[in-house]
Amino acid sequence: MELKIENAAIADESKFKYKRILTGDRPTGPLHLGHYAGSLKNRVKLQDKYETFILIADIQALTTNFEHPEKLGENIFLVALDYLSAGINPKLSTIIIQSMIPEISELTTFFSMLISINPLRHNPTIKTEAKERGYKELTYGFLGYPVSQTADIAIFKADLVPVGIDQLPHIELARKIVRKFNELYCGKLIEPSALIGESPKLIGLDGNLKMSKSYGNAINLSDDFDSIKTKIKSALTDKNRIHPTDKGNPEICTIYSYHKAFSEDGLIKETEYNCKNGKIGCVKCKENLFEVIKSLLEPMNEQRTYYLKNKDEVWDILFAGTKKAKIIASETIKEVKNSMEILYKTL
Ligand code: TRP
Repeated sequence: MELKIENAAIADESKFKYKRILTGDRPTGPLHLGHYAGSLKNRVKLQDKYETFILIADIQALTTNFEHPEKLGENIFLVALDYLSAGINPKLSTIIIQSMIPEISELTTFFSMLISINPLRHNPTIKTEAKERGYKELTYGFLGYPVSQTADIAIFKADLVPVGIDQLPHIELARKIVRKFNELYCGKLIEPSALIGESPKLIGLDGNLKMSKSYGNAINLSDDFDSIKTKIKSALTDKNRIHPTDKGNPEICTIYSYHKAFSEDGLIKETEYNCKNGKIGCVKCKENLFEVIKSLLEPMNEQRTYYLKNKDEVWDILFAGTKKAKIIASETIKEVKNSMEILYKTL
């Protein structure tokens, strides 16, 4: 694949054994299959290989949800529940609540001096997101979220950030800011690299390019099987196919794209052949998909039921992770202030 972003430092994974990675999500609601296919599944694998830090970015969530801060607590819990159910192991991964580490905000402020507004305005990811959300005016916080994301990465001295291609401009920006910091202040912050490995985005049930809670076209990991069945039934297929014997085009079918993301190779090939040759109806094809999704989510539901009975355990995991992360963050901020020669005294 050709990358348009200059200097995007993409890590060669084989060279990076036992390094630290940082990933995260905004807690704006429960996670869906798009999160699972796009990143969560990958993180479950990465945690065996890397020291993994996962940030629940509640301050970043405020950049788009500032009208409802009161929902953050519940959403943090739901996201953590989804992580743990999907196989994030708290012994291998450190889960962190962003707002409980004020050092991140401090570093964001220092970094904000090192970047001018124009590259943020022209950042393609910011532009697309603002357009998708219909923002005419951008808040200072929204425009600056890649800067705070840079602080998230730098404060924990992460080497690698697993991202999708659309997030590459943010990593490029992070490298630029860190480089400038290091040059100006003789700092020793780590210039992070992108670890491209995450799968492309899952399309929505309505055929929209992105599965997203805000578009109401998502299957949540926590949905019950009845509603998943109903959602799958409602999903957009090849509109030109009326009868099961009509020859279909799987490439424009939402259901087929989900088969590609979640089914075994055999079923994917069979589905493609049967659809193209009018040998399977969409109803049956959807039933097949439902079974696949059900067997993916069933083991997760077992974990979910356990943690829902033991909610305190979820919070304990979050607080323990945050506490561990805080030690690193306060060390980093001391080093940062020291290199800037503004460490007057530790009170
Ligand atoms: N931007 C990510 C999202 O939209 C969340 C996030 C916050 C993040 N800080 C990060 C991801 C640092 C990777 C690294 O969900």
